[in-house]
Amino acid sequence: MSDPTTWGFETRQIHAGQQPDPTTGARALPIYQTTSYVFNSTEHAANLFALKELGNIYTRIMNPTQAVVEERIAALEGGIGALLVASGQAATTLALLNIAEAGDHIVSSSALYGGTLNLLKYSFKRLGVEVTFVEAQNDPDAWRAAVQPNTKAFFAESIANPKADVLDIEAVAAVAHEVGVPLVVDNTIATPFVLNPLAHGADVVVHSATKYIGGHGTSIAGVIVDGGTFDFGADPEKFPTWNTPDESYHGLVYARDLGKDGAFGANVSFGLKARVQLLRDLGPAAAPFNAFLIAQGLETLSLRLERHLANAKAVAAFLSDHPQVEVVHWASLPGHPAHERAAKYAPKGAGAVLAFEIKGGVDAGRAFVEGLELHSHVANIGDVRSLAIHPATTTHSQGGDEDRLAAGVTPGLVRLAVGLETIDDILADLATGFAAAAEAVAQAPAEAEATTVS
Ligand SMILES: Cc1ncc(COP(=O)(O)O)c(C=O)c1O
Repeated sequence: MSDPTTWGFETRQIHAGQQPDPTTGARALPIYQTTSYVFNSTEHAANLFALKELGNIYTRIMNPTQAVVEERIAALEGGIGALLVASGQAATTLALLNIAEAGDHIVSSSALYGGTLNLLKYSFKRLGVEVTFVEAQNDPDAWRAAVQPNTKAFFAESIANPKADVLDIEAVAAVAHEVGVPLVVDNTIATPFVLNPLAHGADVVVHSATKYIGGHGTSIAGVIVDGGTFDFGADPEKFPTWNTPDESYHGLVYARDLGKDGAFGANVSFGLKARVQLLRDLGPAAAPFNAFLIAQGLETLSLRLERHLANAKAVAAFLSDHPQVEVVHWASLPGHPAHERAAKYAPKGAGAVLAFEIKGGVDAGRAFVEGLELHSHVANIGDVRSLAIHPATTTHSQGGDEDRLAAGVTPGLVRLAVGLETIDDILADLATGFAAAAEAVAQAPAEAEATTVS
């Protein structure tokens, strides 16, 4: 077979990490729906537990179906390894708790998915990890100013949901490295087809594989991709848990034993620590069946994304010309404030999640979403189907107004995740939504008058 290291994206998304099953010859990825694996001998078992040999022990920590997905996503992102977990939330949680613990501090962009904002602002606080949010996410000085002596990581989304800003990854990575911490980037909306944050200086990538990677709205999963770049051994005082023996793991010293000079000849410490310490103890393992569905999605990622992006471009153009639209948020649109960064980081197109402000505010936004017939009104993105939602009353409803505005969620904002249907049908459905919105706005003064009279 040709050299896997030279394969193009389309070849990697189908073949990376997988050979025909050696026992049965099965060509498609088998679902190893098993919890545990027979050891060859007590010595084999002891070696596996001591990480002298890598191999399957128990599916909470490792599984052959998951392993193919991990290797394939690592190959698509340009990472040294990956860890598949039960959800995107689990991926972000494990990636950051792999670095920061009680008493530590993280600097994060404020332009985040609402669930991540809750996780960082409230749940992490309860765990003793403080997070400072940077609103001007592309201003390196804003990141620098937020750094404290106990800062352990930077976090941001490459393309931020829902307003589709594009992160200046190189600028933020430079500040992270200047202050000696890793940059973790959520690349969910971009996908590895559009953008590889590791190639621009990020150290770790997380994904909600639930979205475009799975692609069909059928399974929840997340992934952590390790760039193998950050040396946690360089500053033992800053990263004590990396440089002192882990009593729960035979006294393993992660930076020393699994880092660049460790047993594996490469810096595999980030992914292995997350796996053998946090995944082992906290337990958010991906189900093998979900791993199989994620693998199915991966095989057509580029094809789906090409169509998602073409449809998104057409929808953005339609919305830009529409008289009922105040503003369109899609970074690849000429004139968008992030247009230059989109051209640099996401030249194929800034994802297929668009948002726009409809004239008539909340009432018009609600009527628009309710008037749609082909679009599904759901809290998801990255499905083959076109989806629509009103973030202020759904995905971003659990924080306060201030949090919502910091994340770019205004009251009349409508978010679309553009699907793979025939573009004329998508546009016709949007026109139906606008007609419903116009009717709602026309009726609003009359209703207000009627209420006043009665
Ligand atoms: C950008 C982003 N990151 C993370 C998540 C969380 O992923 P999951 O729902 O798989 O836990 C989401 C979910 O919508 C998301 O949009």
